[in-house]
Amino acid sequence: MKITVAGTGYVGLVTGVCLAEIGHNVTCVDVDENKINLMKSGKSPIYEAGLEELMLKNKDRLTYTTDYKSAYKDADVIFIGVGTPEKKDGSANLKYVYEVVKQIAETVEKDSLVVIKSTVPIGTNDKIERFLKENLKNDVDVEVASNPEFLAQGTAVKDTLQASRIVLGVKSKRAEKILRKVYDGFNQPYVVTDRRSAEMIKYASNDFLALKISYINEIANLCEIVGANVEDIAKGMGYDPRIGNKFLRAGIGYGGSCFPKDTKALHWLANFHDYELKTVKAAIEVNENQKIKLIKKARRYYESFNGLNVAILGLTFKPGTDDLREAPSLANIPILLEDGANIKAWDPVGVENYKKIYPNEITYCDSIEEAIKDADICLIFTEWPEIVNFDISKFEKLMKKPIVLDGRNCYDLKEVKDAGIIYESIGRRTINGYYKISSIEEVATAKNK
Ligand code: UDX
Repeated sequence: MKITVAGTGYVGLVTGVCLAEIGHNVTCVDVDENKINLMKSGKSPIYEAGLEELMLKNKDRLTYTTDYKSAYKDADVIFIGVGTPEKKDGSANLKYVYEVVKQIAETVEKDSLVVIKSTVPIGTNDKIERFLKENLKNDVDVEVASNPEFLAQGTAVKDTLQASRIVLGVKSKRAEKILRKVYDGFNQPYVVTDRRSAEMIKYASNDFLALKISYINEIANLCEIVGANVEDIAKGMGYDPRIGNKFLRAGIGYGGSCFPKDTKALHWLANFHDYELKTVKAAIEVNENQKIKLIKKARRYYESFNGLNVAILGLTFKPGTDDLREAPSLANIPILLEDGANIKAWDPVGVENYKKIYPNEITYCDSIEEAIKDADICLIFTEWPEIVNFDISKFEKLMKKPIVLDGRNCYDLKEVKDAGIIYESIGRRTINGYYKISSIEEVATAKNK
């Protein structure tokens, strides 16, 4: 079977490499020549644990090319895994998907199955098939199937090779048979359904997870008001198998390339059909506020950040990735800069990408110690292991004023108490915290209390 994968981002490349890992010969095609050259030299264009090793291991079964004609013309199965970014109005932008579909229509020379992996609005598979049938240059039969992925960045290889399920949205037994053959090396439960339902499974799953996060974040906010501990709440809830213990980590909101975009896209789609998805709308609103929660907390200590040294620990939207898309740090840093803060930031892998946005406005540090030295306040945006395992006594020793606002609940409250710092986290008791500290003297008093 000749398999081609269009797009070499998280979805496309991981799919292609994992299919090679189970024995297929796979051609990965992308319009970006730099990316293709990088992959030809054995390097992965994305930061993803284990991916480069698999690329190397399966190099004889993997071809990388920009030559879409040769990649599509005699392929049995063509996976489309290109991005569907958010448009300004919240809807999904299908520009890249259709660019590939047009190329397929022009070039395909034999019967083939086009499989949509990209997250696309419900009904898109039907539209693509119609488009192909109307625009095919050659007299061939092309069917479209929906096969959404559920991989998370940082664990993408594992999530693909050991996926929780394989969803097949098919119109015919033939398409199902082909896809079952493709996935023969995988040992996961299949959900076989129609194409629209498969498209909906993807959105419904992502939006449900986003909802779960926003729900626990709201509970966390209430915990702070009424004096309860959200981590114990999540633990107590999580033992109930109907609820489950995953995705109940309170924090400063979800970021990344999927949840923000997929919640907005489904909400938009519902609106388009004169229906209001109230729960999803609430999840979006809660998340927007949650992202700037640390700034709001910080303002209780300092009315303005002008001239203050602010340490930022963690820039990416989550650990294990260099991706900054919708990262909470990006919602906060402009506010701090506008106020005139001196920002020193540390992140193990996100700095290069950050420099593309803020080349000069931020001082990037090589160590956590360097970032927090002489800081008036420290904000933690990402729970990188280096931050979680950091010796917290150093905050007190190195910072000018040891106020640590932790957006990811990195530290144990008991340990924090002994470290003598002012510490606020999400949905948990504040340690040594005082509202409206506006002078160094007041902080010193707070510290000594
Ligand atoms: C997500 C889905 O997990 C994946 O199935 C889908 O295919 C793409 O979107 P990803 O965006 O890579 O994957 O990361 P994920 O680990 O799900 O985290 C997303 C965001 O939610 C991060 O910002 C993370 O910090 C946040 N999160 C996650 C929480 O705030 N609390 C949690 O309990 C879990």
